[in-house]
Amino acid sequence: MKNQLKEFMKSIGNDSVAVIPAAHEKTRSYDTEYRFRQDSDFYYLTGFPEPDAIAVISPGNKKAPYILFVRPRDPEMEIWNGRREGVEGAVKNYGASKAYPIEKFEEMLPKLLNGKEKLYYRFGVDDKLDKIILQYLSVQRFRRLKTPYPPHTIIDPTLIIGEMRLHKTPEEIELMKKSAEIAAEAHIIAMKSVKPGMTEAQVEAIIEHHFRMRGASGPAYNSIVGSGANATILHYVENNAVLKDGDLILIDAGCEYKGYASDITRTFPINGRFTKAQREIYDVVLETQLECIKATRKGVTVKERQDLSIELLTEGMKKLGLLKGSTKKLIKEKAYMRYYMHGVGHYLGLDVHDAGRYFLDQQTRFSRPFEPGMVLTVEPGIYIQPDDKEAPAKYRGIGVRIEDDVLVTEEGNVILTSKVPKDPEEIEELMNSPKKAEEFMELIASGR
Ligand code: GLY
Ligand code: MN
Ligand code: MN
Repeated sequence: MKNQLKEFMKSIGNDSVAVIPAAHEKTRSYDTEYRFRQDSDFYYLTGFPEPDAIAVISPGNKKAPYILFVRPRDPEMEIWNGRREGVEGAVKNYGASKAYPIEKFEEMLPKLLNGKEKLYYRFGVDDKLDKIILQYLSVQRFRRLKTPYPPHTIIDPTLIIGEMRLHKTPEEIELMKKSAEIAAEAHIIAMKSVKPGMTEAQVEAIIEHHFRMRGASGPAYNSIVGSGANATILHYVENNAVLKDGDLILIDAGCEYKGYASDITRTFPINGRFTKAQREIYDVVLETQLECIKATRKGVTVKERQDLSIELLTEGMKKLGLLKGSTKKLIKEKAYMRYYMHGVGHYLGLDVHDAGRYFLDQQTRFSRPFEPGMVLTVEPGIYIQPDDKEAPAKYRGIGVRIEDDVLVTEEGNVILTSKVPKDPEEIEELMNSPKKAEEFMELIASGR
């Protein structure tokens, strides 16, 4: 049984039962499916990798505190669709106290839930299961003279699991380091490979090739490869344009390693040399990013870090001639949002935008201080639309974002993605000096 599950059991207590479903396969088209991805909460608690399973967790049930309902073994189905753990594997390999075929779940539900005070279940994710649970609750109300009562309090487990997921264990941190390392290497290889005339799709392929070659399951989210003005579209994923000499390219790509995401953005010149105008914008973003990384440390709040990014970028935009007026007024009027319209970062873990609350009480939003064990991205950016008549002409169509993944520690922080250069001179050196590029490749090969 995973430590996370033991911890969760302690949190919910002996008078509770939790019903946590796995994800289902999703149709991509006609009779083909997307590659399966487990539900993050289910995976976090159980580690069980298959679809269509349900965990029933009742810490007070001494004989069977952890039951898994799973797809039973089926030699014929397994020949077509792949191996299954079955009930034997669920017990033997995943530490379930007992396991049953998923078909038995509905029938066994009253026996598992009746007599418990609280039911931990998240409505609104799995329609079919919602109906089963509601049906159970409604039927049990009429049977109250004959059987123990059904749970009278229903609690969404999102908060408890989210808080646990936000604070990473040493084992999780190891996996996140690995995920970050693989993604960093992929960005280095992309930087070394990009040339005018290539397509964004080819750059995407280079990156994702490396992810898979190094044991990641693939990208943690759709890779963004935007050249020229495509970099000003925040979630650009068409990735089909030809790279032009003189343009920048923005790559936002991270992998998923054993379930854990990395999330890196680099922006660099396609021909290996920044123009003066590109560099001016780049320097403002980089300086902001470096300061915000410093602020990603114990005790600093989510809001303080966000405000810092806004202040530095607003100052920078003034310097560039993108904004005019008093900084205080520009911030109050949110003038910066014309060019910086997203947050400076988010929690990172099993999900790229990971679980956990950003504020602890509803009144003081985003006031949560960072704590050791949290992993956050730091990703300021400036995006100037190509048709923005108010911006100096030399800046139109430029989009720059720089993003790293940072672990908060007792002493300060660790940048998990520091291997991939972001200093503009270092980027130019990597792109133009075969010797430098070789050094980076050796660094990758040595696994350092
Ligand atoms: N790649 C998604 C993000 O940076 O938030
Ligand atoms: Mn991000
Ligand atoms: Mn990103």
